[in-house]
Amino acid sequence: MDSRHSGRKLAAAAMLGALLTACGGGSGDGLDSNGRPVGEGGSGGGGLTPTFASIQAQVLTPRCTTCHAGAAAPVGLRLDAGSSYALLVGVPSGEVSSLQRVAPGRPDDSYLIHKLEGRAAVGSRMPLGGPFLDAATIAVIRDWIARGAPNN
Ligand code: HEC
Repeated sequence: MDSRHSGRKLAAAAMLGALLTACGGGSGDGLDSNGRPVGEGGSGGGGLTPTFASIQAQVLTPRCTTCHAGAAAPVGLRLDAGSSYALLVGVPSGEVSSLQRVAPGRPDDSYLIHKLEGRAAVGSRMPLGGPFLDAATIAVIRDWIARGAPNN
């Protein structure tokens, strides 16, 4: 009985080791609060990375352009692939003009983050009506902004 116990413990330790290795180690970037890689959202979707192309393809286009596109886009903010970067980065918010939508290097001062986290001074949390982005997804967008919000 003792040997069965320690065998199980060994197997568990080996599994944990394999999981940690699979995650690539490092600073914890790219992992959610449960230590899983971000961007999988339970639906098996492919890993979101802190680049604009990835955020566009996996968040802005599928989650935002139902409303934020075309001439009637709310607050003039079009988030389709051809428009979004130029309307986000370094551009003052229409709702709170003292804040930029995306302030390069400063996620906490970026109105986009305020809207996604539901703590903007004006209006509702985005995406309007939900479901809202999970913390891991917002963390990747924060990371991209912290890296200077490059058009990459
Ligand atoms: C169902 C429609 C809808 C969806 C989907 C939606 N929005 Fe919005 N958005 C709005 C409306 C309406 C407003 C203006 C009213 C408000 O802020 O509540 C707005 C305002 C905003 C603003 C403020 C713009 C400014 O200049 O002040 C930001 C930023 C924003 N949305 C980002 C997003 C992002 C990012 C997504 C996707 C993750 C998203 N929205 C999805 C309808 C939507």
